[in-house]
Amino acid sequence: MVTSVGSKKVKTAVFISGTGSNLKSLIKFSHQKKSPISIQLIISNDPKAKGLKLGNFYQIKKKVFSLNGNNLDEKKTILELNKNKIDLICLAGFMKILSKNFIKNFKGKILNIHPSLLPKFKGLHTHKRVLKSKQKITGCTVHFVNAKLDSGKIILQKKVNITKKDNEKTLTKKVLTQEHKLYPRAILKLFNP
Ligand code: GAR
Repeated sequence: MVTSVGSKKVKTAVFISGTGSNLKSLIKFSHQKKSPISIQLIISNDPKAKGLKLGNFYQIKKKVFSLNGNNLDEKKTILELNKNKIDLICLAGFMKILSKNFIKNFKGKILNIHPSLLPKFKGLHTHKRVLKSKQKITGCTVHFVNAKLDSGKIILQKKVNITKKDNEKTLTKKVLTQEHKLYPRAILKLFNP
């Protein structure tokens, strides 16, 4: 389990694969006095991930590891995390599955945000499947990461209403707006239960 010591902020790494809008909201949150985290490292599996640019802008160290199930790559990632004394990992639009060994190394210290009300709609193409199955409510979830996909203990969820006018684009936007608020709230809850 991850705990904050005194007034020191918890050294955090954020893993991304794409745009990084959740990364941006986490960085902004980390700059607030009330935030228990300080973001020290951004890791992406994709060198072209747009979110990596945020590292330049906010002067946060960035690293790219393909994390394609390659042992060596994973070892390098763990080394980098340890080198930077990382004590919390936030997956934020990270589209790779971490190995059991990796998760064991950071037990209770990896969080993820998923764009559905878990346990409903685990996995990819969430909004498309939500719309196809004619749901009236969806949302987002922040949870601990365990060895099973999108199945770890839930920390917080936020519901989002679906209207008849919604399509994948509008729903993505509506849910993302809530994700940006939910991730910081979940982190606050974790450290000040
Ligand atoms: C977010 O909606 C996040 O919940 C989702 O990817 C998007 C990333 O957006 N994650 C997953 O689907 C993980 N299975 P962002 O790059 O703008 O934060």
